[in-house]
Amino acid sequence: MAFSPWFSLFLLGFLYRTQLVVAQKDDRSTMLALKEELSVPGWGSNESDYCTWAGVHCSSNGSSVEMLNLSHFELRGNISLASELKALKWLDLSYNNFNGPIPPAFGNLSQLEFLDLSWNKFGSSIPPELGNIRSLRSLNLSNNFLVGRIPDDLQNLKGIHDLQISGNKLNGSIPKWVANLSNLKVFTAYENELSGKIPENLGSSSELQLLNLHSNYLEGPIPKAIFALGKLEVLVLTMNKLTGNVPELVGNCKGLSSIRIGNNRLIGNIPKAIGNVSSLTYFEADYNNLSGEIVPEFSRCSNLTLLNLAFNGFTGMIPPELGELMNLQEFIVSGNSLFGDIPKSLLRCKNLNKLDLSNNRFNGTIPQDICNTARLQFLLLSQNSIRGEIPHEIGNCVKLLELQMGSNYLTGSIPPEIGWIKNLQIALNLSFNHLHGPLPSELGKLDKLVSLDVSNNQLSGNIPSALKGMMSLIEVNFSNNLLTGQLPTFAPFQKSPQSSFSGNKGLCGEPLNSSCGGSFGPSGEGYHHKVSYKIVLVVIGSGLTVFVSVTIVVVLFMMREKQEKAAKLAAGIADDVTANPPLIIAGNVFVENLRQAIDFDATVKTTLKDSNKLSTGTFSTVYKAVMPSGLILSVKRLKSIDKAVIHHQNKMIRELERLGKLCHENLMRPVGFIIYEDIVLLLHEYLPGGTLAQLLHDSSLKAEYEPDWPTRFSIAIGVAQGLSFLHHVAIIHLDISSGNILLDANSKPLVGEVEISRLLDPSKGTASISAVAGSFGYIPPEYAYTMQVTAPGNVYSYGVVLLEILTTRLPVDEAFGEGIDLVKWVHGAPARGETPEQILDARLSTVSFAWRKEMLAVLKVALLCTDSTPAKRPKMKKKYQLNSPLSSSIKGRGS
Ligand SMILES: *[C@@H]1O[C@H](CO)[C@@H](O)[C@H](O)[C@H]1NC(C)=O
Ligand SMILES: *[C@@H]1O[C@H](CO)[C@@H](O)[C@H](O)[C@H]1NC(C)=O
Ligand SMILES: *[C@@H]1O[C@H](CO)[C@@H](O)[C@H](O)[C@H]1NC(C)=O
Ligand SMILES: *[C@@H]1O[C@H](CO)[C@@H](O)[C@H](O)[C@H]1NC(C)=O
Ligand SMILES: *[C@@H]1O[C@H](CO)[C@@H](O)[C@H](O)[C@H]1NC(C)=O
Ligand SMILES: *[C@@H]1O[C@H](CO)[C@@H](O)[C@H](O)[C@H]1NC(C)=O
Ligand SMILES: *[C@@H]1O[C@H](CO)[C@@H](O)[C@H](O)[C@H]1NC(C)=O
Ligand SMILES: *[C@@H]1O[C@H](CO)[C@@H](O)[C@H](O)[C@H]1NC(C)=O
Ligand SMILES: *[C@@H]1O[C@H](CO)[C@@H](O)[C@H](O)[C@H]1NC(C)=O
Repeated sequence: MAFSPWFSLFLLGFLYRTQLVVAQKDDRSTMLALKEELSVPGWGSNESDYCTWAGVHCSSNGSSVEMLNLSHFELRGNISLASELKALKWLDLSYNNFNGPIPPAFGNLSQLEFLDLSWNKFGSSIPPELGNIRSLRSLNLSNNFLVGRIPDDLQNLKGIHDLQISGNKLNGSIPKWVANLSNLKVFTAYENELSGKIPENLGSSSELQLLNLHSNYLEGPIPKAIFALGKLEVLVLTMNKLTGNVPELVGNCKGLSSIRIGNNRLIGNIPKAIGNVSSLTYFEADYNNLSGEIVPEFSRCSNLTLLNLAFNGFTGMIPPELGELMNLQEFIVSGNSLFGDIPKSLLRCKNLNKLDLSNNRFNGTIPQDICNTARLQFLLLSQNSIRGEIPHEIGNCVKLLELQMGSNYLTGSIPPEIGWIKNLQIALNLSFNHLHGPLPSELGKLDKLVSLDVSNNQLSGNIPSALKGMMSLIEVNFSNNLLTGQLPTFAPFQKSPQSSFSGNKGLCGEPLNSSCGGSFGPSGEGYHHKVSYKIVLVVIGSGLTVFVSVTIVVVLFMMREKQEKAAKLAAGIADDVTANPPLIIAGNVFVENLRQAIDFDATVKTTLKDSNKLSTGTFSTVYKAVMPSGLILSVKRLKSIDKAVIHHQNKMIRELERLGKLCHENLMRPVGFIIYEDIVLLLHEYLPGGTLAQLLHDSSLKAEYEPDWPTRFSIAIGVAQGLSFLHHVAIIHLDISSGNILLDANSKPLVGEVEISRLLDPSKGTASISAVAGSFGYIPPEYAYTMQVTAPGNVYSYGVVLLEILTTRLPVDEAFGEGIDLVKWVHGAPARGETPEQILDARLSTVSFAWRKEMLAVLKVALLCTDSTPAKRPKMKKKYQLNSPLSSSIKGRGS
């Protein structure tokens, strides 16, 4: 997307070059007619001097218009009139809403040097008349809806420097005459439907500097000629069907800084001449059929920052010379047939951030000084034949975020030093190796780690209870080892499926079916629970006590959900206790006009029937209750207030009543509550639209109704307004996710689960329990460090919701690849050479140019919101105070 600096310089020079033009007639009448037609804001305050109007420049004697810059004016209408401005040299209509065909009359602007019609809605084919503008130096028609072929008449534009026609629906082939445009320096035609070969002679008669043709259907070879004159600086041919070799002639281009040729069908070796490309910083050739050895000549490209050769047919060993690449940050060679040792020399690359050797045949050992690369964050070695032990020095890789060593032949035991890698958070995977010995209790120090997989080894001994220190764990796999003893009571363990622990004959306790027996009988287990409650109480007691009761509600709920079910079954009260309704301890309806319509006993009965269940969330189960009055309620059941803390309930009730008074159209507030036995029911009005998650991801609903872009857009804005309001009244939401956004009959969104946020107020310290981090996929990355849910954290989660709306994809999906969630997938798109089209839901983004534009604008906001640095994210609260300009800024950019 970014153009090299020379390019802007060229334009400036172009702009300020003065040339005398013979004005054919006075332009006043044309300008007044244009003003009438387009209603340009700021035009016409002084009718007698159109030369002072915004974006208008006249010749030095002040009568004829030479430059018209109406970029970003949101204009529509008949722009054909502008062709009457015979002295025009510069016409910039980019970023407007002009539609219909490009006026053929522009072909009569015989003085025109610069024509920019990009980012409009111009349709049909390119008018051949444009070929008459012999003086044209720069033509930009990109990002419109142009169809058909590139007209041959454009070959008359002999003086053209810049030709940009990307982002349309142009088809046919790139005409051969493009190669004859002897001044052509910039040619972009990416994101079209162009097919056929790239003209063989392209670049042979002009000093081509930038060629970007990605995301078309181009076939045939990369033409040698583009390197012939040696001026090429940027080459992007990603996502085509190109075949043949990478030409040896590439070595001609000393100034070539970026070569991106991934996702094609290229074959053969990388030419040794690549070493002559001394400016090379970015070489990306993944997903081709390239073969041979990785040439040591890359080592001469001293500025090389990224080398991505993944998923090709490279063999041999990694040349030790690559260790000279002091600027190398990412070395990605996964999915090849490379073998040998992990070269020690690579460890000299001081800036190496990502080393991805996975899915090859590396058969050496892991060097002891693997951690000499002080900046290493990703060490991906899985699916190789790596032998020997994991060196104890691994503990020195303090910056590591992800360590993948699965599916190798590693032996010995897990070095306790892994526990020193305090930053490790994405994954630690040692599965499918031959590791034996105990699980080191030091692993418990990895308090940011989200995914731990040590399955399919020969690990023995107990699962140390010290592992409870891994507060961020979400995924674990200990299966198929020789582990014994009782599973520690630790929410991430008990919430895991049995399969995470199966295949260990000696292991017992929840979630496994095998109870521990003997001294670990029910009474023993009860003891453990009591101890944990006490610990929880002590932890909270040492903080602030105001919200203790509900914290405990939640913690108990998590720990005892299963136990409780079992107990109820045993007592025979699982499903139907309608005969004897339980005694209601307390209850209230905050909304005056609903008092008569709500029957507490009927409400309680409803929640005793599983058939009324709507959903089960992190903190609660939700039921649908039809009152005798006909009113429909949604009843949220929080479970198990411990008898010991029930005296805190008055505080909870006060908090609920306060919440009931919070009034905003995009917030779901409680209308009342009921407490019976040790159960709290929160009453809400029933919303028939279900949740946003159901709307976007429930395939059974989708078949009937695929939400269109305007609906999604207004949901995005409504949620922003609801959150802004919450932040305005200093409430941090604890669990923003599409599952907690409810929709009314008109698809108006209401942010739900606000009670939990209030009852577990993070500013009071009670939210720093890892269980309260929110839903997987929505948790901001800094949470791993801070363990605090913050306003910028909320903005991050909101950004994830925006991405869901834009892509119709789940926040976490195996399809993104290992360790990649929706956020990473979207942020990684440019690096993968993918276009917004491959990210956005194409069923929406291709419907109309307006939708696509708005979606791109929202995508920008979503990317900001999901920035990994909290301080860089936009603020909700400010936005609210400024009367929600988030929505206006989305709208402003969009339509
Ligand atoms: C403006 O200058 C051009 C030449 O520079 C001349 O042809 C034209 O007649 C002038 N117009 C007026 C109104 O003086
Ligand atoms: C309009 O422009 C003319 C020519 O530049 C100038 O003489 C006149 O004062 C301007 N009138 C106003 C109201 O600004
Ligand atoms: C054209 O107008 C836009 C928006 O007003 C401005 O950003 C841009 O710099 C202008 N271009 C030139 C060449 O003056
Ligand atoms: C635009 O205006 C021109 C005359 O300036 C006229 O010939 C043409 O038909 C108009 N186009 C449309 C779409 O109205
Ligand atoms: C271009 O100008 C010529 C001569 O002034 C005129 O005959 C023709 O109709 C114009 N073309 C368009 C498309 O307006
Ligand atoms: C269109 O292309 C020209 C020439 O390359 C360039 O100067 C201009 O900035 C482009 N317009 C936009 C909106 O990017
Ligand atoms: C090119 O696009 C035009 C207009 O959409 C269509 O009519 C034509 O069939 C397409 N040609 C090819 C070769 O796809
Ligand atoms: C490498 O990059 C630096 C900084 O951008 C630049 O000054 C230097 O000339 C480049 N080296 C080569 C060989 O191009
Ligand atoms: C590693 O694999 C290569 C190629 O299969 C083989 O030649 C070499 O002997 C192997 N090295 C070791 C240490 O096994």
